[in-house]
Amino acid sequence: MAKVWLTGGTGYIGSHTFVDLLESGYEVFSTDNFSNSSPHVLENIRKISGKEPINYEVDLCDRDALELIIRQEGQIDAVIHFAAYKAVGESVQEPLKYFDNNLNSLLNVLRMCKKYHIPHLVYSSSCTVYGNPEQLPVDENTPMAPATSPYGLTKQMGEDMIIHSLQATRIGAVLLRYFNPAGAHESGYIGEDPRNAALNLVPVITETAIGKREKMTVFGSDYPTRDGTCVRDYIHVMDLARAHTQALEYARQHLPPPGYDVFNLGVENGVTVLEAIQAFERASGQKLNYQLGPRRPGDVVAIYADATKAKKILGWTPQRDILNIMNTAWQWEKKRSIEQ
Ligand code: WQD
Repeated sequence: MAKVWLTGGTGYIGSHTFVDLLESGYEVFSTDNFSNSSPHVLENIRKISGKEPINYEVDLCDRDALELIIRQEGQIDAVIHFAAYKAVGESVQEPLKYFDNNLNSLLNVLRMCKKYHIPHLVYSSSCTVYGNPEQLPVDENTPMAPATSPYGLTKQMGEDMIIHSLQATRIGAVLLRYFNPAGAHESGYIGEDPRNAALNLVPVITETAIGKREKMTVFGSDYPTRDGTCVRDYIHVMDLARAHTQALEYARQHLPPPGYDVFNLGVENGVTVLEAIQAFERASGQKLNYQLGPRRPGDVVAIYADATKAKKILGWTPQRDILNIMNTAWQWEKKRSIEQ
């Protein structure tokens, strides 16, 4: 069976994709330095999949250390590159840290593809490349907009680095533009487990509900939307993981090197912040303690996907909605809080 290299395989989306690939019969190994994840994720991947997950603790920016691993692994059929810093707000505070880590790690992955003839790359990109779109929903032809954060800029530059080096690296690349990943594995064993305080909406909601935070703030209620709060397209992390396995299969069967393709991964449903909170209250049966506050700099007013292309070409069919996202996120928060 094909051998797949995951970078960031113990992270949020990486760990869920690790499970999906193992359950699909792939041989998988990960490189992850645990900068935003914990080694105990590996034990939980084993509990779900029944297989022993392999991870090498290495910094992708350490080219020599990385090369030792890739050389000893022999022929690798594909790499899925998740590893990156991804907090929009933090990237505004620490742009050089984001450029250094996100761009140098990608550069080393591309060097390994070239030197060790890894024919396929699946790249973790983001809907942030669209900025504040004029037209909604956005499809893959919607033009990139000027980045609104250093994080978003590293995703735009990452796509361009891959595309402009195809003749040198000789890879077939699939660029996956995620909308808002959320939720947790239905087993309750893995979920969003950030090392530092959560910044994204759904974990902030569950941390507030469990009492880790006294209350949460809705960032802005005067936007030109149906209830004044921002609109996002929340996609369940298990649906997102499935899309990676399907993208890998598509690349291996229909994307001979050199070449590339781009897919939006969203559920095509725009949900406001207040609607997300109401969905949580319905799913959990708990009232949430929140207040309306000022806008957060850099926030996009509204964005949601047209994912027709992923459905038609990858055969991808997202199964879960915002209620399932809130349910699984809540189960995960309760379990995580007991273990901590
Ligand atoms: C969502 C909405 C906030 C926290 C994320 C990822 C980014 C990319 C796109 C993958 C916004 C509001 C939040 C809070 C709030 N994904 N909010 N109170 O900014 O859309 O970006 O998805 O690459 O990596 O970061 O996600 O969850 O931070 O915010 O009101 O305490 O929730 O203002 O409207 P965002 P988010």
